[in-house]
Amino acid sequence: MESVTKRYPDGTVAVDQLSLDIPDRAITVLVGPSGCGKTTTLRMINRMVEPSDGSILIDGMDIRQQPVNTLRRSMGYVIQNAGLFQHRTILDNIATVPRLLGWSKQEARARAAELMERVGLDATLAKRYPYQLSGGQQQRVGVARALAADPPVLLMDEPFSAVDPVVRKGLQDELLRIQDELGKTIVFVTHDIDEAVKLGTMVAVLRTGGRLAQFSPPAELLSAPADSFVEDFLGADRGIRRLSFFPSGRLELQTAPIVGIDADAAKIASRAEAPYLLVTDLDGKPLGWSEPERLTAGAIDRDQLIDHGRPFLPGTDSLRTALDGSVLSPTGWAVAVDGQGRAVGVVSQQVIGEAIRAAHGQVAQDLGVKAAR
Ligand SMILES: Nc1ncnc2c1ncn2[C@@H]1O[C@H](COP(=O)(O)OP(=O)(O)OP(=O)(O)O)[C@@H](O)[C@H]1O
Ligand SMILES: [Mg+2]
Repeated sequence: MESVTKRYPDGTVAVDQLSLDIPDRAITVLVGPSGCGKTTTLRMINRMVEPSDGSILIDGMDIRQQPVNTLRRSMGYVIQNAGLFQHRTILDNIATVPRLLGWSKQEARARAAELMERVGLDATLAKRYPYQLSGGQQQRVGVARALAADPPVLLMDEPFSAVDPVVRKGLQDELLRIQDELGKTIVFVTHDIDEAVKLGTMVAVLRTGGRLAQFSPPAELLSAPADSFVEDFLGADRGIRRLSFFPSGRLELQTAPIVGIDADAAKIASRAEAPYLLVTDLDGKPLGWSEPERLTAGAIDRDQLIDHGRPFLPGTDSLRTALDGSVLSPTGWAVAVDGQGRAVGVVSQQVIGEAIRAAHGQVAQDLGVKAAR
């Protein structure tokens, strides 16, 4: 988008000289307060709204150089509440665009069935009508319909904002999974900064009046907001949320404080230096914490153990998850597990705190290098 401005006939400037370089095969999120021009920006990309000034290019070609129908066929469009055709079945809703493109009914329905599976919809829902689906299911149908003709570009306007937080998280995870497989170029509009940070490869923060406040990868947004508007928009727990981008793989884990439920007195005594011992079952899965002196050899009482909080997967989970585990655990220690849920180590809040400070230092250094370039 090159210096794009939209002035509506009544004089409202919805978008003001917006320039954005939207990366290929990645999710770019437009985020900002209500009325800041997000929907207008999205609709200019598929020419539902024509810019007053500036130009939009795809792969170097001005979008005005091709027929509007060709342009729109190359872009799936998903909106809030899915916008499904109420008088058509789920299968036929998804088959709409392939049918318009001249596919046979059979081909289009086969494609629709394949997409239902891809977006996590049970095949038994195919013959239902939209009103017979939950909001979250309808939203999945909306995504499937947008993907039906396999367009390279997907435009999504607050697609998940009408569903409850749990369903919403499921839809976000599903989108990330689908994106991993399909690699679409997605422009995603939301006013929820957490959603933006979770989904975006790049995040454009807009301010009222349709002006760009910042365009950055989410980690950079959280570590270096451009100004106080962006900082306020990011909210109060920016520091904690930033930890989602710090890896937990380098945390130094201790294994000495871990004992099996079948541990004998000698073994427990040999570990008695630790303030708490993590007791695991015979498979090595964590059961809970205990002070060493409370453990009676061979007769560890599972009900007496202290809750071990939520374990984290080192390398996969972030420092935020590790910290959360240690905060939830009354002992202040977090438990690290492998993919099978077996304890591979424990780590104290203090060690996590040191890792956080080291990661901050690293980020400051990286940003410094970038600024110097
Ligand atoms: N057709 C129109 N005529 C005049 N003004 C319009 C028109 N459509 C939108 N606007 C105005 O343009 C501005 C941007 O609107 P837009 O719908 O792009 O905002 P938005 O960021 O998507 O907001 P929301 O988060 O509430 O969906 C608003 O001030 C809106 O009132
Ligand atoms: Mg909008």
